[in-house]
Amino acid sequence: EGVEQSVSTGSLPGWEQVDSLVVASHTRNRACQDGAVADYIPVLAQADPELFGVCVVEVDGGVHLAGDADVEFSIQSISKAFVYALVCEEFGHAAVADLVGVNNTGLAFNSVIAIELNDGHPMNPMVNAGALATTALMPGATPDEQWNAIRKGLSAFAGRELELDQEVYRSEAATNTRNRAIARLLESYGRINRDPLEAVDVYTKQCSLRVSARDLAIMGATLADGGVNPVTGQSVVSAEVCRDTLAILAANGLYERSGEWLFEIGLPGKSGVSGGLLTVSPGKAGIGAFSPRLDPAGNSVRGQQATAYLSRVLGLNIF
Ligand code: DON
Repeated sequence: EGVEQSVSTGSLPGWEQVDSLVVASHTRNRACQDGAVADYIPVLAQADPELFGVCVVEVDGGVHLAGDADVEFSIQSISKAFVYALVCEEFGHAAVADLVGVNNTGLAFNSVIAIELNDGHPMNPMVNAGALATTALMPGATPDEQWNAIRKGLSAFAGRELELDQEVYRSEAATNTRNRAIARLLESYGRINRDPLEAVDVYTKQCSLRVSARDLAIMGATLADGGVNPVTGQSVVSAEVCRDTLAILAANGLYERSGEWLFEIGLPGKSGVSGGLLTVSPGKAGIGAFSPRLDPAGNSVRGQQATAYLSRVLGLNIF
């Protein structure tokens, strides 16, 4: 409403203009009360629904913050994008496409019927089935080695040591019967070649890593920057892996709402059920947003609104 639609200019405007637009993305959407905090993981129901933070990190390392951009929350499904990138770095484009797939299910993130409708194929690494299959592929002789490699890898994307949120991990581990069922189902189709319940445990830990909107923006900026973290200068994954990861996000990052997201915002993104939302403007910036109230598909409502605003006023839509 009343927002000017910019056309992409190939680069972001000056630092001060981006700074004030990030603040505006927060101010304009702060009052929105739509959506509901997730409660199927008990501890998430206790989140403060008023929290709202936005951060843009440019590929030159410039940081723009508004609101609760340094408040930490569990990364949840956004971890799927980065574990996929680490696995893709290890096994390559073709192997991962074959094993985990790239196509949208059109169904909820924890759908069981999507697996059955596709002959036991997990479909893509952003739904729980595909993420469990992807985590099971992580290099490592033991689940602990896999977990350590995931934590180290995601920390390199963020440019700081990420920590496990014990409370979230325990709460989810005590209630994740559906993910255990999905892992067993995948095992029955020969899609998980490790102990499926150990894969669920590693996956639950990766989802319980604590991040802020600023961390998400840095992680997104690393994907925008061909795999080089713009804050630390570390090369985390190859440019080819970033390209593959961003294509997967464009098709599947917001679950059954991925098409609407791409139509409205025009950028690869990934949501998490604690209210995090990561968006990547290739070659330009990462956007991190956090607000716990979700739409019915499990995507942060204010996070989507703030990101839609930024995509429009900064001319980021890649189409
Ligand atoms: O496996 C789960 O259900 C959660 N750990 C993650 C789900 C999630 O973040 C879905 N996203 N919006």
